[in-house]
Amino acid sequence: MAILGAACAPIAWAAGCGGGMGSSMAPTTTASQLVDPFAAPGTRPALPLVAQDLGTLDASGAREFVLRVQSGTTPFRDGAITATQGYNGAVLGPALRLRTGEQTTIRVRNELAETTSVHWHGLFVPADVDGGPHQPIAPGAEWNASFTVANPASTCWFHPHLHGATGRQVVSGLAGLLIVDDGELAPSMLPDTWGVDDLALVLQDKRFTASGQIDYALTDSDRFTGYTGDHLLVNGAFGPLWQAPRQWVRLRLLNGCNARTLTLRLGASLAMLQVANEGGLLATPVTRASVTLAPGERGEVLADFSGMAVGQEIALLARSTVDSGMGMGMGMGGGSSSSEVAALKIRFSLPAQPGAMRTPPARLPAAPPIVAGSGASVRSFALDGGMMTPSFTINGRSFDLDRVDFSVAADTVEIWKFSNFTGMAHPMHVHGVRMTLLARDGSPPANHEQGLRDTFLVEPMRSVTLAVQTAAVASSSPLMLHCHILEHEDAGMMGQFITVQS
Ligand code: C2O
Ligand code: CU
Ligand code: CU
Repeated sequence: MAILGAACAPIAWAAGCGGGMGSSMAPTTTASQLVDPFAAPGTRPALPLVAQDLGTLDASGAREFVLRVQSGTTPFRDGAITATQGYNGAVLGPALRLRTGEQTTIRVRNELAETTSVHWHGLFVPADVDGGPHQPIAPGAEWNASFTVANPASTCWFHPHLHGATGRQVVSGLAGLLIVDDGELAPSMLPDTWGVDDLALVLQDKRFTASGQIDYALTDSDRFTGYTGDHLLVNGAFGPLWQAPRQWVRLRLLNGCNARTLTLRLGASLAMLQVANEGGLLATPVTRASVTLAPGERGEVLADFSGMAVGQEIALLARSTVDSGMGMGMGMGGGSSSSEVAALKIRFSLPAQPGAMRTPPARLPAAPPIVAGSGASVRSFALDGGMMTPSFTINGRSFDLDRVDFSVAADTVEIWKFSNFTGMAHPMHVHGVRMTLLARDGSPPANHEQGLRDTFLVEPMRSVTLAVQTAAVASSSPLMLHCHILEHEDAGMMGQFITVQS
């Protein structure tokens, strides 16, 4: 793969190349090393299951959900009661079951003592109900998002997006899931018994103060690399145990970390069959030894537990790559890896369920990829900064809530090229568009990177090119484009665009 040249590509948004490689040193960074929850003997908490919420149907056939944004306490660790925030509970939130084509209303009531917003990460919804920084919800206020579900079957999620407060509110516990069903899958084509053979795993790291409260006092290093914690939690539990059935299961994995990219694999060298990435099903499932998810990304994998002995245990192992920020450009190898820890123990204590999937599908009803015509216009985004100060920029600019950075025609396919001129990887995310990866540094993307996408990692000194289909209807309400390292986003590594009638 070619390394980006020093010269700037023509940039459609803003002028110039935003600085390129500076010469001063980046701050020294120290990412938290993950603690192994199973290093000490003791009883482990049961894996908390994400509750599914089917909503209710009103007289017109529209589906309605209620989300109450609340504060509460959570016993993450022995002897400590930790103040947290959650949706319909003290921490995290439910999995809302959405159906493609269905008119849906989500009523959000903010019961916190602070302003928040709720963004539907991955949903193709109109910009004015997207829940970004332009739709704040004051304490005590209610905000309703009504839309027709337009995504194919996929695992999406929701989280706060109040500018400058996103990182803190997510770490405090605000994150929930959106499970879209589109009716295209034949029964039993994939495991789909929620909480039994269809399991959602929300992975997030946190660190705690001596008194057991969430420590979100950002260090200079956190501002540079993003917030990292030494405790990797699964569905809000540290080192939990899942009693699993001895059959094929489906794991819906969400990297809900503020900044850590996680590489996940199963113990006993058990392969995973990836059936979906964050945009939905893969046309052809891909066998993977491990799956790497950047912050904001999701992946769905199948695992064959049918040959496991009763009572046998394996682990879901996580290795994290936290960039030192002094990567390839500095000739220092890029990134530092912490050692691998077990995030979750899986004990095979249940028999196979009736109706369990017996043979994994060879093909899946994936949504068609976005295809760009030969005349498609090209728009370039340079990721830069982080040298003199810890703030990163897009096309040389830092976020301004009152400035629209560019306009795109509605219902158009463009080619967007993201080039990373910094020493660390940035997981880029775009709201309200449909995207397909075309190339990484000119080479076609790997099989598991096919299909629709909403978040993609751009490695240091590399580029990613995508076909981007804009919303069908123009809107003057801005959509966000940002790095999903939440401390980068909060510090301004974000831009916004509107869609206009062509
Ligand atoms: Cu998951 Cu703009 O965010
Ligand atoms: Cu989003
Ligand atoms: Cu970033």
